[in-house]
Amino acid sequence: MTPMLNIALPKGRLGEKVLAMFEAAGFPCPAIHETGRKLIFENPEAGVRYFWVKPSDVAIYVERGAADLGVCGKDILLEYAPEVYELLDLQLGRCRMAVAAPADFRDSGRGALRVATKFSNIARQHYAARGRDIDIIHLNGSIEIAPILGLSDVIVDIVETGVTLRENKLAVVEEIVPISARLIANKAGFKFKRGPIDAIVREMAARTEEQV
Ligand code: PRP
Repeated sequence: MTPMLNIALPKGRLGEKVLAMFEAAGFPCPAIHETGRKLIFENPEAGVRYFWVKPSDVAIYVERGAADLGVCGKDILLEYAPEVYELLDLQLGRCRMAVAAPADFRDSGRGALRVATKFSNIARQHYAARGRDIDIIHLNGSIEIAPILGLSDVIVDIVETGVTLRENKLAVVEEIVPISARLIANKAGFKFKRGPIDAIVREMAARTEEQV
C-alpha cells in the first residue's frame, strides 16, 4: 500500500484555492467540504490526509515532519528559512514584499531608519545589502498604522492590491521581492515517500501551467 501523505494547508482564502488545486490534480477529499470545526481530513483512496493550520505555521509542521508536504508563502520561507525543500511555485497568492511610507517621505540617510514590520529578517537583509542603518520595530499586524502614528519612518510589508496602503495614505517606496505560494516538503519525507510526492508535484505542476 502506498503511504499516506500528510499535507498542511494554510487556513483562509489562499488555502481554499490551494485545496481546489490539489483536488483538481487528482487528490480530492470529500470529507473536507463538510461544515464543522474539524481540522484533519483524509481520503485513503487518494493517499492524502489534509489538515488546516495557521498559514505562518505550515513551515513548522513540514520542517518537523508532522507534515510531509505543505503550502506556504515565499515570505515565510524568506523570513524563517525553515529546513525544508521548496518543490514548486504554485503561482497562487501572488503579491510583493515592499517598503512603504507616507507619500511625502524622503530618507535623509541620517541616523537609523525606523522600520516597522512583521518580517524583521527580510527587512534586515534588505537594508544590510544597502548599508543603511535601521532600527527594527517588530509588530504582529496592522503595520500600516506605525508611520501614521510616528512609531516608524517606513514599513516593510506585503502589498497585494495596494488598497490598504492607499486607504492609509501610504505609498510603495521600493519593491523588495515578489511573493507567491510554494509547495514545500519535509526533507526526510521527500526521501522515503518519493513516489507519491513526485506524483503530486507532477500533477500540481501541470495545474500551475494551466493557470499561467
Ligand atoms: C496583509 C498585509 C497588508 C495587506 C495588504 O495584511 O499585511 O496589511 O494584507 O493587502 P492589500 O495590498 O490587498 O491591501 P493581513 O490581512 O494579513 O493582516 P495583518 O498584516 O494586519 O495581520
